[in-house]
Amino acid sequence: MSEQEGGRDSFSNKFGVIAAAAGSAIGLGNIWRFPYVAGENGGGAFLMLYLLFILAIGVPVMLSELLIGRKAQLNIFGAFRKLAPGSYWPLVGIMGVGAAFMILSFYSVVAGWTVEYTFYAIANQFAGESPEGIKAIFDELTAASWRPVVFMLLFMALSAFIVRSGVKKGIERYTKVLMPLLLVILVGLIFRSLSLDGAMAGVDFLFRPDFSKVDTNTILEALGQAFFSLSLGMGVMATYGSYIKKKESLGKTAISVSLTDTLIAVLAGLAIFPAVFSFGLEPGQGPGLVFITLPGIFNQMAGGYYFAIFFFVLLVIAALTSSISLLEVVVAYFVEELKMKRSTATWLAAGIMSALGVVCALNGAVFSFFDRTSSNILLPLGGLLIVLFVGWFLGKQVVRDELEADGRVAFYFRWFVPVIRVLAPIAIALVFLNGLGLLRF
Ligand code: TRP
Repeated sequence: MSEQEGGRDSFSNKFGVIAAAAGSAIGLGNIWRFPYVAGENGGGAFLMLYLLFILAIGVPVMLSELLIGRKAQLNIFGAFRKLAPGSYWPLVGIMGVGAAFMILSFYSVVAGWTVEYTFYAIANQFAGESPEGIKAIFDELTAASWRPVVFMLLFMALSAFIVRSGVKKGIERYTKVLMPLLLVILVGLIFRSLSLDGAMAGVDFLFRPDFSKVDTNTILEALGQAFFSLSLGMGVMATYGSYIKKKESLGKTAISVSLTDTLIAVLAGLAIFPAVFSFGLEPGQGPGLVFITLPGIFNQMAGGYYFAIFFFVLLVIAALTSSISLLEVVVAYFVEELKMKRSTATWLAAGIMSALGVVCALNGAVFSFFDRTSSNILLPLGGLLIVLFVGWFLGKQVVRDELEADGRVAFYFRWFVPVIRVLAPIAIALVFLNGLGLLRF
């Protein structure tokens, strides 16, 4: 147990905090979603918008969330109840818990595909298949049948197993090993990908902006991707913030987590696009990009059998360290607000999510409804309310106290307050309304 008041569990040190928070941020969002969304939105131009949103909006929202959690020392609903008693603010917490159910339901389905692909890779199932053959395997896998359900359940059970063990003995212990491993595998893949013939066309695509592909929808997609990728807007970072000790610097945490997350997304792009171009494939083919393109690439590569296994194991790891953060939001809420035992709370939350996950696995319309509603509506809305809460409701003094380390107020305090009071809310609101078609400019 930690030395913090109330005997709450906590991360043991700075590396533990960063491994867990970066583990949450880095996931299918970076390796599966980022390359295909970037591929559909012109590559380099999308990347530039995305980087801008990460820096100007993502970092301040993340810092605000961490701050709420650490100040309150409670789950996301309890935090608002404690910091703003008798107000409507706790509804933001309810929205966050609801979003966690929604996101993990479809997320665990995609994660289930990665588990199934790992087994295919081990069994050398893709060997000798044409691109059409691989597409058929993917289509068959995602079509309504019992197999995606089984692998989704397997993945959910794995997440529940880790979360049940607690923050230090579960989440921190596993993320500390899994995250560095992920980086090593990814770097290995990049070397392989960059050494292919014609790889430079992929590098070009990723880094040379083509602004003719940018429209208002691209801008909302870039913001939605920034929120999704950094795990913002629904209480993951607030919940993890509540396990961070007072002596740790929240600003440094927010910045290192955001930079690491962005780095991994760019590295994933560097592993994938050179190979896509080298083999003359289409970068804008949608969610199948990783699942359809890559096995074909591994097929034609020397040592492809091993690279395939490594890659899909990497995806499973990335998905796992993210899904446990989503599960933890709900578990912390059940334990602290509904007074459940941790193990009961974990299995109940995972059970409800699995039931919803079955629906997502069998029904593509529900799957995309959950995906779109959460990323493009709930997360930006949650992020907007969170910065307004910290900027206007909690106020300067509380922010100042939380940003103080070793008796010194952090240097960024001076710009952080105006950013979360004015700049970030206006930016989020504009992009959001514009993307929803409620405001055109
Ligand atoms: N950020 C993770 C990814 O990139 C997914 C994720 C985990 C998430 N927790 C979240 C997304 C909370 C939104 C909100 O894959």
